[in-house]
Amino acid sequence: MTIFDSSLLFFILIRICCSIKSPEVFELLQKKAMPNNEKLDEPLQVYFGFYVESLGNFRATEMTFDMDMYLYMSWQDDAMKHNGTEHILINDRDILDKIWLPDLYFANARTAYFHKVTLYNFNMFISPAGTISYGTRVTLNLACNLDLKDYPLDSQTCFIKIISYAHVKNEMNVTWFPDAPIRYNPEIDLPEYHIKKLDKGYCNGVFLYTLTHNSSRVGEFSCLLGMLKLKRAIGFHLVQSYIPTGLIVAISWVSFWIDRRAVPARVSLSFTTLLTLSTQGNGIRYALPAVSYAKAIDFFYGVCMLFIFGVLLEFALVNSYMRRANKYNHMADKIQSAYGGKPIIAADYDSDYEEGPTNYYGNLNKNSAHLMYKALQFSRKALAIDKAARFIFPCIFLIFNLCYWWYYMKQRRDAEDE
Ligand SMILES: *[C@@H]1O[C@H](CO)[C@@H](O)[C@H](O)[C@H]1NC(C)=O
Ligand SMILES: *[C@@H]1O[C@H](CO)[C@@H](O)[C@H](O)[C@H]1NC(C)=O
Ligand SMILES: *[C@@H]1O[C@H](CO)[C@@H](O)[C@H](O)[C@H]1NC(C)=O
Repeated sequence: MTIFDSSLLFFILIRICCSIKSPEVFELLQKKAMPNNEKLDEPLQVYFGFYVESLGNFRATEMTFDMDMYLYMSWQDDAMKHNGTEHILINDRDILDKIWLPDLYFANARTAYFHKVTLYNFNMFISPAGTISYGTRVTLNLACNLDLKDYPLDSQTCFIKIISYAHVKNEMNVTWFPDAPIRYNPEIDLPEYHIKKLDKGYCNGVFLYTLTHNSSRVGEFSCLLGMLKLKRAIGFHLVQSYIPTGLIVAISWVSFWIDRRAVPARVSLSFTTLLTLSTQGNGIRYALPAVSYAKAIDFFYGVCMLFIFGVLLEFALVNSYMRRANKYNHMADKIQSAYGGKPIIAADYDSDYEEGPTNYYGNLNKNSAHLMYKALQFSRKALAIDKAARFIFPCIFLIFNLCYWWYYMKQRRDAEDE
C-alpha cells in the first residue's frame, strides 16, 4: 500500500467516524475486534510464555543485550469454534492478518523484529472449542540497567516487560502459562556471564493514557515480568586485571631489598611500577560506561596505587635518613682530614650489613668519632625502616585482599540468594 493509499484510507476512516450514523464503521471495527465471548463481564484471559533460543551481545556501554525467542500466546475466541475433530493450523500470513491478536509489546525493547525467512516464522492452532494458540519468533534488543558497583564481581538482573498496549486489565487479563512459561535453551553459553535463573513475575501497574486533548485516564494494565538473573564470570577479570595488578604491587616491593644508597634504581623502579599500573588501569576501564560511582575493581586498583605510592614514600623517608647519615660522615671526614689522619680502609658496601662510616681511620679524633656514630645511627634507622617495610607491606596487602575478597564474595552470594 502506498502512502497515498493509506492516507486516503485514513481520510475515509475519519469520514466514517464522524458520520457515526453509518453502521459500516462498526462493521469495519468489528472485523478484527477483540473476541467478545459469552462471559461478558469477565476480561479476556490471555496466556503468555516464551522459550529463549539464544542470548548474547551484552553491551555494557549501551546497557542492552539481544534475545532471540519463541513467543507463545493462547486465548479463547468463541467465534472461532468449529466442527472439525482436529486443530486447524494457520500458517498463511494473509489469514493471520484477518484474525485478532493480543496487542502485547515489550516495554523495555529498544528494537524488535519478526523473522521472515524463508516465510514468516509463526504458527497458529485453533481448537474445535475456539481456543487459539499463536506462536512466533522475535529477536529483541532489550535495555537492561546495569548496576556496576560490584563490577566485575557483580550479579545482574535483566528484565523483560510485556504489557498490553491498549487494553486495561478489566478487558484483557494477561498471565503466564500455568506451567513452565519461561524456558531457555540449555546450550546457551555466555562468555561473560553464567545464567543463574530465568524467572517469571508480574509488574501489574497503573498507567496514564490520553483520552482527549485535555483529559486522560489512568488504567490498570496487566504486565508480565521475565527476570533474567546473571552472574558475571570472574575468570577473565582475575587473569586480566586482578593478578597482573597484584603482581605489579609485589614487584614494587623489590625496592626494599635494593641498596638504600642506590637512589636512581629505587626511584625508577617505583615510578615504572606506578606507570605500569596506570596503563593497566586504562585497560580495565575500557568498554565500560563512565558511571559516576566507584566500582569494585576501582577500589582494588586504587588501593594498589596507594601501595606503590607508599613504597615511594617509604623510600623518601629512607633517603632522608641516609642523607643525614652522609652529612655526618662528610663532617667526620673533614674533621679527620684536618686532624691529619689518612683512611686506612676505603670501605666497600654491602647494603644490609654495612652501616658504618665511609672510611676507616687508624687513629680517630673524638669529635669525628661522635659524628661517625651519629651517621651510623641514621644509617641503621634507614635500614630498620627497609626491613620493617619488607614485612609490613606484604602483610597489609594480604589483609586488604582478605577483606576485599571476603566482602565482595559475600555480596555475590547475597545477590544470588535474593
Ligand atoms: C456444525 O455443527 C452444527 C450442529 O451440529 C451445525 O448446525 C453447523 O451447521 C455445523 N457447521 C459447519 C460449518 O459444519
Ligand atoms: C487474571 O487471571 C488470574 C489468573 O487466572 C486471576 O487470578 C485474576 O483474578 C484475573 N484477574 C482479573 C482482573 O480477572
Ligand atoms: C476540555 O475541553 C472541552 C472543550 O474543548 C471542554 O468542554 C471541557 O470542559 C474541557 N475539560 C476540562 C477538564 O478542562
